[in-house]
Amino acid sequence: MGVLEGKVAVVTGAGRGLGRAHAIALAKEGARVVVNDFGVSADGQGRDESAGRGVVEEIKAFGGEAVTHFGDVADWNDSKGMIETAVKAFGDFHILVSNAGFLRDKMFFSMSEADFDAVIRVHLKGHFCGMRHAAEYLRNKAKADGGQVYGRLLSTASEAALFFDPGQPNYSAAKAGIIAVTNSAAQALIRVGVTANTFMPRARTAMTSTGPSAQFFQKPETGFDAFDPAHTSPLVCWLASPAAANVSGNVFIVWGKEITVLGPPTKAATYHATEAWSVAEVGKHVGRHFEGKLPIKDSFIMPNNF
Ligand SMILES: NC(=O)c1ccc[n+]([C@@H]2O[C@H](COP(=O)([O-])OP(=O)(O)OC[C@H]3O[C@@H](n4cnc5c(N)ncnc54)[C@H](O)[C@@H]3O)[C@@H](O)[C@H]2O)c1
Repeated sequence: MGVLEGKVAVVTGAGRGLGRAHAIALAKEGARVVVNDFGVSADGQGRDESAGRGVVEEIKAFGGEAVTHFGDVADWNDSKGMIETAVKAFGDFHILVSNAGFLRDKMFFSMSEADFDAVIRVHLKGHFCGMRHAAEYLRNKAKADGGQVYGRLLSTASEAALFFDPGQPNYSAAKAGIIAVTNSAAQALIRVGVTANTFMPRARTAMTSTGPSAQFFQKPETGFDAFDPAHTSPLVCWLASPAAANVSGNVFIVWGKEITVLGPPTKAATYHATEAWSVAEVGKHVGRHFEGKLPIKDSFIMPNNF
């Protein structure tokens, strides 16, 4: 028996890549799954329902239960419809894995307004919409059921949220925002028993198979394929399971054989003025802090030990 027997999960962007791997892994652990996918290209163009249908067929082929949902995660009504689809098809809803998204990379100084808006919309608003409707369903259920429910919200960020890629100002901001939105949900819902966590995957998918990252994610000719998306899904299943009831508000990095748990942000230094700050006094204290340090390299944007 799987660790998710009796649970109902929604996975967004589950038609291919990481979402497909999570949907299959959740179903193998016994969850009944809504496979959401808008079926767009890696830069968000077009529309194709065949990928989502294919994943549902794959799940049914090993005896699992799944249905499709073809809505846009960043559309308020479509994302509400995802949760409603779960309840209609399987009688309940417990787990949301927010994963859908696409890239529009451009160097900071060349990025268009449209490319900034589109990427913020699909990732950040796309995560918020699904979680917001999931939260409403779970909170209403908790009120009706006497206070506690089973609920797990899992979000997909990226290490771009830690390193602020100069060619991904839209994506880095969206992914950093996803941590904020998820941890807001974590605090709003812990009282009713719902957890919310974020993970940062690395995998070879349509998103990473072209452009500068393609070389890094290449499949080795022999041996362990560290960037197979399937290696990220056991963490997703565990976080979605009853065993992780006390894990909420956390951020993980996951790929290959490695899982990292990130710690909370730390203060590098705090200075106090004797009266109100003057420019000279800022220079005396804060200026001294930066003596001998290098811009960028010795700064907030270069986390240690990565
Ligand atoms: N691949 C990596 O190494 C990596 C690293 C860090 C983060 N991520 C994140 O993982 C997630 C999955 O990416 P992937 O690498 O599997 O990419 P992918 O392009 O293979 O899959 C993304 C899926 O999302 C779907 N999608 C896009 N917009 C949608 C919308 N509006 N509504 C519903 N579905 C939509 C696409 O149709 C596609 O099937 C993304 O959030 C991505 O930012 C990936």
